Amino acid sequence: MTATLTISVLPDAPQLGRAAAEYFLRVAALGTPRRPVWVALSGGSTPRLLYAALRESEGDRRQLRSAVRYYFADERAVSPDSEDSNYHLAHREFFEPLAIDPSAVARMRGECTDLNGEATRYGAELESGALNSPHNSRLRPMDLVVLGMGNDGHTASIFPGDPTALGLHKPVYAVTIAQKISRRLTLSRDYLCRAERVLFMASGEEKAETIRRVLQPVPGEPELPAAMIHGSETIWLLDAAAARQLDAGDRRITHGDGTKPA
Ligand code: 6PG
Repeated sequence: MTATLTISVLPDAPQLGRAAAEYFLRVAALGTPRRPVWVALSGGSTPRLLYAALRESEGDRRQLRSAVRYYFADERAVSPDSEDSNYHLAHREFFEPLAIDPSAVARMRGECTDLNGEATRYGAELESGALNSPHNSRLRPMDLVVLGMGNDGHTASIFPGDPTALGLHKPVYAVTIAQKISRRLTLSRDYLCRAERVLFMASGEEKAETIRRVLQPVPGEPELPAAMIHGSETIWLLDAAAARQLDAGDRRITHGDGTKPA
């Protein structure tokens, strides 16, 4: 099957959140209690739009409780009750309000002193047991990865200039980067790119220039991490402010909710 990339522009941030939630619910509907869909969540502020829309959705949310297994695309080296923890955000704004059973959540243990050991342990959580072609690996790919993008073009905790998570040896890496919280865990580029679906969410004018560089790079511009990640289906959900610098003639752009999963 050919990989697809769609850019869907919504008028504002709340509508972006609602489009993400509708997509999320459609993917969740593909799961069953015996074979839940695997979804990886991110941190930062953008997931709050998704979580708020899921809390308010009138769609059928039972699948979220019975047919989804939740993972994380990255985590900061903090305790799970820290305001900086990606798990903490998801727990407070999504898992707890929607009564998601803790047994359906596989969190990265950012509090571990041995982060490399935790990366190895989490990698084992991504194994399905069966040997999966075409990658010749026991890793089960994600059905959906929800990602944000930083102003510098990072995504998950794959930062410009840091090659660690571009490695091919492991699905999860511990990285050290020049950020307030410098130690983090992240899914690798290679593992993220095996995903069935990748949903990027970006909101706000301060992202507009980087969005243009990621989605419409000009020759000579270095490839940013967010441009390196794509699944079989990749959807960029942007609000109008984040899309402001895109060339509107780009045929991949749709306005409104063009996010039906393949
Ligand atoms: C993290 C992330 C990170 C995030 C971007 C965008 O833990 O920080 O997973 O990759 O998605 O920094 O963050 P915003 O949503 O706050 O813009």
